[in-house]
Amino acid sequence: MNILFIGDVCGKPGREAVKRTLPQLRKQLELDLVIADVENLAHGRGASPGTIDEIMSYGVDFLTAGNHIWRSNDFEYILGNYPIIRALNYPDDIPGKGFDIIEMSDQRRVLVATVLGKFGINDSVATNPLRALDDLLEKVDYESLDAIIVEYHGEATSEKVTTGLYLDGMVTAVVGTHTHVATADERILPNGTAYITDIGMVGTMNSSLWVKSDIVVQQMKYPYSPRYEIEDKGPLKLDSVLIRTDGPKKAEKISRISKIL
Ligand SMILES: [Fe+2]
Ligand SMILES: [Fe+2]
Repeated sequence: MNILFIGDVCGKPGREAVKRTLPQLRKQLELDLVIADVENLAHGRGASPGTIDEIMSYGVDFLTAGNHIWRSNDFEYILGNYPIIRALNYPDDIPGKGFDIIEMSDQRRVLVATVLGKFGINDSVATNPLRALDDLLEKVDYESLDAIIVEYHGEATSEKVTTGLYLDGMVTAVVGTHTHVATADERILPNGTAYITDIGMVGTMNSSLWVKSDIVVQQMKYPYSPRYEIEDKGPLKLDSVLIRTDGPKKAEKISRISKIL
């Protein structure tokens, strides 16, 4: 099965990049399933029903959400009414679910889970990501699944690579998101799990992770700065990875698929 996992889609430029690339990629790469992180989908801050409907119309099947999903007032509605997960390592009273099993039209089943990292993520509610994954994988019925995809939404490369090695041979793929900067370390780990530290982002290429860079310069130089605005000038970039699965515990291949528009 061919699964495309798209990095954080950022605002209107990000949605535009998905619109201009995904329909063609779906055919070219013979994609069975497309997953995208949508924590920055609506003007960089969370997602809205309208922006989710829009990217699903371009061919995204399933959505994941990192630490910024809570920035939109629509989070509760979205997490209850769309094919989307938030981080697994939250207490039970937080809206939404931390993992889901996608039932595909040809009966294949794919489990997707997201965890939030610890270092540099300003979220005091999230619990230990590895322990949350332990609890999930202990209960998983491997026989009934065709693939397991784990997204590690975190800042620290060390946490991500360590999680990849920890889950090697237990899941199909461990992919990183959140930094918005793609890494070049995609590989199949020794026991068969596909891995990349960070997929990257989708949006305006020459921006501070989606924000106009002069605003972030002011933030870095002064203790006061204007509100973040989305950068909408210049080329767009789409970062994603293609995972060719080989059951719920290993992958055949992982490759970076990036487009500059
Ligand atoms: Fe993000
Ligand atoms: Fe994030």
